[in-house]
Amino acid sequence: NINYILDAGCGEGYFLNKLYEDKNINNICKLIGIDIAKEGISIATRGENEIIWCISDLSNLPFKDNKFDVILNILSPANYKEFTRVLNDDGIIVKIVPESNYLKEIRTSIQGNIKNNDYDNKNIIVGFKKHLDVIYENRINYKTDVSVLNLMNLVKMTPLTSTLDEKEILKLIKSGISNITIDLRVMVGTLKK
Ligand SMILES: C[S@@+](CC[C@H](N)C(=O)[O-])C[C@H]1O[C@@H](n2cnc3c(N)ncnc32)[C@H](O)[C@@H]1O
Repeated sequence: NINYILDAGCGEGYFLNKLYEDKNINNICKLIGIDIAKEGISIATRGENEIIWCISDLSNLPFKDNKFDVILNILSPANYKEFTRVLNDDGIIVKIVPESNYLKEIRTSIQGNIKNNDYDNKNIIVGFKKHLDVIYENRINYKTDVSVLNLMNLVKMTPLTSTLDEKEILKLIKSGISNITIDLRVMVGTLKK
């Protein structure tokens, strides 16, 4: 029995490519990643593998009902009408959302100039629990060293800095941030019984 795994909002495909490193994966799983951003999917297709990638809106998925055993939804928006439609009765949804201290060093260093000073994930968590039964939940919180190069990539990647101009971004990169807080909530849910 093959398990179908969908990464909804897969971005550049990091997580499915990571799963694909398991040599056994093809015998047990079919991996499918979708994202609305062509740039993300274009980068996701860089590998030689059997992962299926497609540009698609997660609120209008091009898949038949009950197709998937697992839906990954990592730091991306959700659409529970579609997710519950394409998930099979025994399937699970794994959602990861930022917690209040996520990347706090970046947010405190550019206070005032950024979009949202605090991640407020209450509505996201309530939405998840309204549509699904939670079978596992955990907060992951740690600090990690960050090199100047990684800081540059992080600053470029995070939507937090999308309102900054070039000068402000340069200032942020030169600010001497050497470690970063990761603060995430993992929730695993099943269809309501
Ligand atoms: C912060 S990124 C996370 C990407 C990836 N899951 C990761 O953690 O590396 C959020 C992603 O959600 C995608 N996204 C936003 N709205 C979407 C939609 N309606 N349908 C599909 N993808 C969407 C964006 O294009 C972006 O790639």
